[in-house]
Amino acid sequence: MTIVGARPQFVKAAMVSRALADFSIFESRPLIEELVHTGQHYDDLMSQVFFKQLSLPNPVVMMELGGGTHGQMTGRMLPSLEREMIDRHPDLVLVYGDTNSTLAGALAAAKLNIPIAHVEAGLRSFNKSMPEEINRVLTDHLSSLFFCPTSVAVQNLKNEGLTESVYLSGDVMYDAALFFRKPALADSLILKRLGLKDKDFLLVTVHRQENIDNPERLGYILTALERLGAKGEILVWPLHPRLKTRLKSGIKANGLFTIEPLPFLDMIRLEIGARVILTDSGGVQKEAYFHRTPCVTLRKETEWIETVVAGWNQLVDCDPERIEQAVAKAEPGCVIAEYGTGNSSKEIARILASC
Ligand code: UD1
Repeated sequence: MTIVGARPQFVKAAMVSRALADFSIFESRPLIEELVHTGQHYDDLMSQVFFKQLSLPNPVVMMELGGGTHGQMTGRMLPSLEREMIDRHPDLVLVYGDTNSTLAGALAAAKLNIPIAHVEAGLRSFNKSMPEEINRVLTDHLSSLFFCPTSVAVQNLKNEGLTESVYLSGDVMYDAALFFRKPALADSLILKRLGLKDKDFLLVTVHRQENIDNPERLGYILTALERLGAKGEILVWPLHPRLKTRLKSGIKANGLFTIEPLPFLDMIRLEIGARVILTDSGGVQKEAYFHRTPCVTLRKETEWIETVVAGWNQLVDCDPERIEQAVAKAEPGCVIAEYGTGNSSKEIARILASC
């Protein structure tokens, strides 16, 4: 049973589900995957569009458990997920990443003694004020199979005493970047729709609680974007619903275009086309590297430290001057010997099939 709920999980699950289905064709005992959607992300543009575009299997259960505080959401998910696990008695529960759906899925399974496999295990920001850090640390300590995207993640688990059934599988998001790059280049009309040319614009995404729910930090970020716009930069910013609700009066600044959340192929096309990406997302930092676009990260720390070490990513927090300077000096870095070879999902499917 695979538990998903939030946008980045649809991308990761799409790759592994495809690999599990392919793998099953050759097995005498086929693997059966049942997808359960918590409804953490429920808007069409945050959920349904991804299921269609990524050809994800339809969920066997579609819950409506999004919204509210982190505690309310996680709490609401527990009894519903537990009920499904009791009724469907899965051999294993598969969870992805670090969202509230990840932790709720892991906790419900652990209380029923169902083994848990965690994809994207071992990542750490070492910042416990992030809800994601709490979710990922707890999920790892409930899991029995660990699929790590990087060697840093393997080492993090080792430091916490987790050494058994730890696989350096590589990153399923790298698989997704390779798989969907060609269709994005061929089929996405987003540049034309927005009147943009390759390498003429900056792409912005901001959705972290620490940036959006703190008016001072959000104010600094907006100042930086306004200053970049005043200098003649074109900034394209797909607005996450979390931010949209905070910015009731909208944002108006020279050169700044706020747009609706984007389907995956359009997002990839903008990541490829941008001169620099400014983001506080974990996934987008890596996608920037996968598509060889320099990145400026609006946080104090990152779980993807190798992107910084290799020179592709600059960690600048939210100081407007540092943001401006980082954009001015953003440039390509070195090749990163992590994330696998684009076959991580197949490797994960192979290991799951042999359990
Ligand atoms: C969640 C994850 C984060 C991940 C992000 C990807 C947690 C703790 N955080 O953050 O790790 O990077 O997803 O986007 O799980 N909302 C809508 N429509 C939707 C989805 C959300 O209006 O389709 C609203 C919610 O009602 C809520 C806000 O947006 O008020 C934030 O959503 P939430 O699921 O709490 O967290 P994210 O910020 O999306």
